[in-house]
Amino acid sequence: MSCVSEPGSTEGDHGIQPGSKQSFAKGGPGARPGSGQSFAEGSPRVIVAGATGFAGALAAHLLWRHPGFELAGVTGRSEVGRSLEEVYPRYRVPLTIEELDIDRLTNESEVGAGIDAAVVAYPHAASAPVVAALRACGVRVCDLSADFRLRELATYEQWYGTHPHPELLAEAVYGLTELHREAIHDAGLVATPGCYPTASTLALAPLARAGLIADLVIDAKQGLSGAGRAATWQTHFSNGGENILPYNIVHHRHTPEIEEQLDELDPTHPRLRVQFTPHLVPLDQGELVDCYVTPTRPVTQDELNAMYEGAYMAERFVELAPQPAEVRDVRETNICRLHVALSEHTGKIVVLSAIDNLWKGTSSQAVQNLNVMFGLPEAEGLA
Ligand SMILES: NC(=O)c1ccc[n+]([C@@H]2O[C@H](COP(=O)([O-])OP(=O)(O)OC[C@H]3O[C@@H](n4cnc5c(N)ncnc54)[C@H](OP(=O)(O)O)[C@@H]3O)[C@@H](O)[C@H]2O)c1
Repeated sequence: MSCVSEPGSTEGDHGIQPGSKQSFAKGGPGARPGSGQSFAEGSPRVIVAGATGFAGALAAHLLWRHPGFELAGVTGRSEVGRSLEEVYPRYRVPLTIEELDIDRLTNESEVGAGIDAAVVAYPHAASAPVVAALRACGVRVCDLSADFRLRELATYEQWYGTHPHPELLAEAVYGLTELHREAIHDAGLVATPGCYPTASTLALAPLARAGLIADLVIDAKQGLSGAGRAATWQTHFSNGGENILPYNIVHHRHTPEIEEQLDELDPTHPRLRVQFTPHLVPLDQGELVDCYVTPTRPVTQDELNAMYEGAYMAERFVELAPQPAEVRDVRETNICRLHVALSEHTGKIVVLSAIDNLWKGTSSQAVQNLNVMFGLPEAEGLA
C-alpha cells in the first residue's frame, strides 16, 4: 500500500527518525517509562496527531493511561522535539512530540511496525487531508474536527467552504456514541461531534424521536478552552475574564450539525430550524446548554421523565439530574448531565445539558468511540 506524507509537512531533521528515542517503536507490556501503568500485550497502537492542541493533549493523556491501547506517538507542528509532558505537565505524557510522517508511521518495515488507529485533533479543512492519507493506509481514524460530521456535502460547503475530501463523507460515522454505537463499532472513520452538538443532541434526542419538537431555541455557554490553545483578543484574560461573550450568533457552524442529527431522529423529518446562540464564559473547561422546546402537543412532566429514563437508563455516561445540571458536576468526566423540566406556565420544555467541552465534548468521547471500535468495554480508561 502506498501512503503519502502529510501535505505541507517537512521531512528531514524534524521528521521521525528510525531508531531515535522516539516513541513509535513498539513497546510492550509495562513499557511506559515512569508511568507505573501498563497496557495489555497486543493492544492497538494509536497516535494522536495535533497533540500540541488542547483536545489532542487531553486525548494523549487519556490514551497514555489507558490499559487497552498503546499510545504509539504524539505529533504537532510546533514544539517538535519537546516532551508533551514539558508542554502540558498536568497530563504527564513523557513522549516526544514529532512531526507527522504518515509513510513512516504506517510502513510495516519501519521501526514503528505500523499503527492501528489515530486521533486527529486538527482544525477543520486541515484535518481532512491527513485523515484521507491515514485511511488510504488502512488506519482507523477518530477525527475531532468538523470535516466529516455533516452528511450532506452541500451543507458542509455552505457553512465551511470547499470540502478537501468529499469522497470520505460516505464512510464517516457520526461519533455520538450513545446514538450510533453499532455503526461506530465497524467504522474506519469516526467523526467526533462538536461539543455543542454533543450536549444539545443528547439533551433533545428523546424529544426528537417522539416527534415532539415544533420549535427550538438553544442558549449555550462554554469555557474559554473551547476556543483552542492560540490566544486571541477575544479569549485574552483581560477580555474573557469577568465577561460573557456572545459569538457567532445566528450563524454558528454547529447549527446545521444539531439540525441534521435531530432531523434524522425525528420520524417526521421536519427539517427543523434551530435558533442557536453560544457564549464564552470565564471558565477554563465546562459547557452548559439550555434548550427551550415548544412541543408539537401538550405533554406532562411524568411523560417526559419516563421518556428520558427509557432513553438513558442504561447509559453509563448520561445522567438524569433531579436538580438543574451544573458544569462543576461534570468537570473532567465523560458524563453528560441532563435536567428536564416542563413549564406549566408556558407549556415549553426546558432541557439543561452540562458537559466538559474537552472531555465528553471531544477527547474523552473520542476514547469512548475507540473503545467501541476496538471491542473494549466502553468505559475503559474513562471511569
Ligand atoms: N477545544 C474544544 O473544546 C473542542 C471541542 C470539540 C471539538 N474540538 C475540535 O478539536 C480540534 C482541535 O481543537 P483544539 O481546541 O485542540 O485546537 P488547538 O488547541 O488550536 O489545537 C489545534 C491542533 O492542530 C494543529 N494545527 C493547527 N493548524 C494546523 C494545520 N493547518 N495543519 C496541521 N496542524 C494544525 C495545532 O498544531 P500546533 O499548535 O503545533 O501548530 C494543534 O496541535 C478542532 O477541530 C476543534 O474544532 C475542540
